[in-house]
Amino acid sequence: MLDLTEEQREIQKLARDFARQEIAPYSADWDERSYFEPSLVKKLGDLGFLGMLLPEEYDGLGVDTPTYLLALEEIATVDASAAVMMSVHNSLPTSMILRYGSDAQRERFLGPMARGEILGAFALSEPEAGSDAVALTTQAVRAGDDWLLTGTKSWVTNGNTAGVIVTMARTDTRQERRGARGIGAFLVTPDLPGFHVGKKEEKMGLRASPTVELTFDAMRVPSANLLGEPGMGFVYAMQSLSAGRLGIAAQAVGIARAALEAATAYAAERRQFGVQIRDFQAIQFKLADMATKVAAARSLTHAAAAAKDRGENVVQACSMAKLFSSETAMFCTNQAVQIFGGYGYVKDYPVERLFRDAKVTEIYEGTSEIQRIVISRHLYARD
Ligand code: CAA
Repeated sequence: MLDLTEEQREIQKLARDFARQEIAPYSADWDERSYFEPSLVKKLGDLGFLGMLLPEEYDGLGVDTPTYLLALEEIATVDASAAVMMSVHNSLPTSMILRYGSDAQRERFLGPMARGEILGAFALSEPEAGSDAVALTTQAVRAGDDWLLTGTKSWVTNGNTAGVIVTMARTDTRQERRGARGIGAFLVTPDLPGFHVGKKEEKMGLRASPTVELTFDAMRVPSANLLGEPGMGFVYAMQSLSAGRLGIAAQAVGIARAALEAATAYAAERRQFGVQIRDFQAIQFKLADMATKVAAARSLTHAAAAAKDRGENVVQACSMAKLFSSETAMFCTNQAVQIFGGYGYVKDYPVERLFRDAKVTEIYEGTSEIQRIVISRHLYARD
């Protein structure tokens, strides 16, 4: 239903072919073993998929946001773990360095990030600061020309594989916990003294995407690694999360579409009571609802992406897209398992993994409850 340009169709096909040939044969095994395949980073980089929103001067593809989301949906349809790696990298660290970084920071990081030589990560959440992100307590204290960072970050996607982690830490310790303006964003690299990778989470889904805890023990970060202004990191993080949420929305659309495609094929194959089960209205209605929601979720996501590229305020639109798409992923994977019956509950078919992968889209980059708060606040905002 989207009106795609020739270039968009080409990039969509490139992503689809790559995902089917290079990822699909291994996805179930990677999920089973909770294994992250490092060569995927370089391969995605070679295709330009790790610098989709970066200009050509940094070896980026320089495409618009809808085109980026089309590629992301194709990857997610085959492997949601690969998709979240790609989404976090493109939407958060690369975009933040491009937007707020100095010339030297851009020069140092963006080319290698676009080429897949350095993977990016984003560290905001902490054990006691999840939805209430402003409550973060990781401290950044001045020490001569450097900063010393002390604290723990949780749920860091790509955290043990990244070469740069955009990390939010409190730079102004005088402020109360609500001091959103007293938080800085730092470009943390794993070679810094005091950087430790902690527990790798054993997850329900997205098992091929590593999620880790990071601990900083008076980690010495040169001031050259501070992104933008020392007190503005939280605002940068929030501004970037709006776009990040579009990446997760596209990932959720991909998961939902995969569930729809699997269920549609199965309903044509499976026979009960002497007929294909697709002949039953109970199944037809499920498939119709799934198809409608997938189309609506994609439309909402692409409308928000186009509005973002026009420079409009899209905070509410991004939350709507993320909320609706993630709930669509959960709805469609649940219906798909139901259509498959007992076969949907075992690992012989892909819908069991899709069901597990879908759940986290309602949780990370802002839970569905947080998206509803953001959406409702804007209903009363005067601008
Ligand atoms: N753009 C710019 N600034 C923003 C903003 C936005 N979208 N949203 C908030 N801010 C600013 C506000 O202007 C405010 O600044 P001032 O104090 O100077 O006015 C400051 O940030 C605090 O905002 P609020 O007063 O609205 O703070 P709040 O605590 O009431 O609510 C929230 C904020 C919307 C709940 C926010 O904390 C939030 O989004 N929480 C969810 C956190 C989240 O999404 N975490 C995702 C983790 S990353 C992840 O999952 C990545 C991964 O690996 C997959």
